[in-house]
Amino acid sequence: MILEPWSRLEGKTVMVTGASSGLGFEFCLDLAKAGCRIVAAARRIEKLESLCQQINNNKMEYSDAINGGARRAIAVELDVTADPTAIEECVRKAWDAFGHIDALINNAGFRGSVKSSLNLPSEEWNQVVKTNLTGSWLVAKFVGKRMRAAARGGSIINISSISGLNRIQVPGAIAYSSSKAGLHLMTKSRTCNIRSIITLVIE
Ligand SMILES: NC(=O)c1ccc[n+]([C@@H]2O[C@H](COP(=O)([O-])OP(=O)(O)OC[C@H]3O[C@@H](n4cnc5c(N)ncnc54)[C@H](OP(=O)(O)O)[C@@H]3O)[C@@H](O)[C@H]2O)c1
Repeated sequence: MILEPWSRLEGKTVMVTGASSGLGFEFCLDLAKAGCRIVAAARRIEKLESLCQQINNNKMEYSDAINGGARRAIAVELDVTADPTAIEECVRKAWDAFGHIDALINNAGFRGSVKSSLNLPSEEWNQVVKTNLTGSWLVAKFVGKRMRAAARGGSIINISSISGLNRIQVPGAIAYSSSKAGLHLMTKSRTCNIRSIITLVIE
């Protein structure tokens, strides 16, 4: 599969989850520089608003040929561990922000604490798996359904980790590693009729 170069994505609309900090925040800035419209999603809405302001106010750097000076980035509050109906509603808002989504970057993630599996509370296991695996599936499901209905293709990129690969052992991260390994397999068993689903592994 040949992907379009990151630097030539003018006019694409990309939804990034976990956009309020870390890698997700940087993906948004970089994609905006490459000419994309950004839907930035996470729980901390004030961080997202500040990111979007940075993109929308910096029209020289984030060249704005596509949008005639209109907003290039929009914040959508999203908790990927919420119930499916709430997630579907967030995806509706994200989709409606620019009328479609060309690519979803499923980046929201939670590592949890470093603990032996014998001492790991089940609440923490559930929170990690719900965020990294179930949440990624639900967001991909609702975006994927809209991509299929719109019949204009689309891509889903799941952000994983080397700790989810079977040749790597990260001590004290049983829930995190299991959830990321699940994300790999979820990516492999592509069931949506969309152009591409890939896992990006971060070291
Ligand atoms: N950094 C690394 O070295 C590294 C290595 C391997 C893999 N990764 C993966 O890369 C991704 C980003 O990592 P990072 O280091 O940038 O993490 P980070 O700085 O801790 O950011 C995590 C992001 O996920 C969001 N998030 C967490 N729980 C969420 C929830 N329930 N609903 C919605 N958003 C949620 C957070 O936003 P809110 O708190 O505002 O919701 C935040 O924006 C993760 O999937 C991580 O597993 C990172």
